[in-house]
Amino acid sequence: MPQRKKIVLIGAGNIGGELASLAARRQLGDVLLVDIPDKEGVAKGKALDISQACALEGFDAKINGTSDYADIAGADVCIVTAGVPRKPGMSRDDLLAINLKIIRSVAAGIKANAPDAFVIVISNPLDAMVYEMQKVTGFARQKVVGMAGALDAARFSHFIADELNVSTKEVNALVLGGHGDSMVPTLSYCTVNGVPVRQLISREKLDAIVTRTKKGGGEIVGLMGTSAYVAPAAGAIAMAASYLLDQKRLIACAAPTDGSYGLEGIYIGQPAIIGGAGVEKIVEVELSDEEKAQLAKSADAVRGLLADAEKM
Ligand code: NAI
Ligand code: 2OP
Repeated sequence: MPQRKKIVLIGAGNIGGELASLAARRQLGDVLLVDIPDKEGVAKGKALDISQACALEGFDAKINGTSDYADIAGADVCIVTAGVPRKPGMSRDDLLAINLKIIRSVAAGIKANAPDAFVIVISNPLDAMVYEMQKVTGFARQKVVGMAGALDAARFSHFIADELNVSTKEVNALVLGGHGDSMVPTLSYCTVNGVPVRQLISREKLDAIVTRTKKGGGEIVGLMGTSAYVAPAAGAIAMAASYLLDQKRLIACAAPTDGSYGLEGIYIGQPAIIGGAGVEKIVEVELSDEEKAQLAKSADAVRGLLADAEKM
């Protein structure tokens, strides 16, 4: 008898709760929310709340909460949001130091209990956290990936659709590079049903949209006092579904570089095909000289993060 897949969500905070709801409602499998012992009640409470919504709406999924890593055994996918979001007054280094410690302990828990899982990291600073996850677990590099490009591209698409007053379904966008101010929204690959966006929107307006995309996370923190969680969860669930259902979707994500885009030995946002084997292929697209220079600068920013993490 086929068994349901097991989806483990490490971190039962804002994104974790949204991930649980999406995974259950899409019937991707059974769901386990994991948090620290002090927050085990939150993990269990969210699991109950979502289970009861599923009873109401007629979705079949078992949803549980725990703080015991032994319970993650047999996980097909682990999505990691453990950590803290950046708060006002917190420097990048403060966030790096706090979340690095957390990601190291989470990675040890995954390595010991769920060695066959496909791991999707969301915790920030993303490109350093996903690198550390792969380093500590020692998992095959195609089985550890970071979610950011899907979210950044969704923001880019939304702003384009809004500007043109067209359906977002018509808009395709691609954002490369690190998940931070140095990200590279690629105008050459932004189209409305195949029509290059440069033919539809003025240079001035496009520049403003690119800038707003780069600052998209901060805009929401400014409005809500905490980071976005609905779209980040949707981005990670798209990646998890592509793996679990072998959809082979092309999604920009923080993926390992083995010479792709002239880069070695880091994780950075690149278009990747995600299927049943994990990151099955990195797709190298042609970039303009300006985009190449921006990607090189973004890679420098990621290397800077990794160098800081190395000292911690
Ligand atoms: P949150 O604070 O609501 O939830 C984080 C949860 O992690 C908390 O419940 C906390 O108790 C838990 N946690 C801490 N240490 C843990 C451990 N060792 N094991 C298990 N759980 C642990 O934060 P939220 O809003 O869910 O964000 C999570 C992370 O995602 C943050 O670092 C945030 O900056 C990042 N983020 C990344 C995005 C991306 O595009 N990659 C987008 C949005 C947020
Ligand atoms: C975001 O982009 C802050 O990484 C977080 O929403």
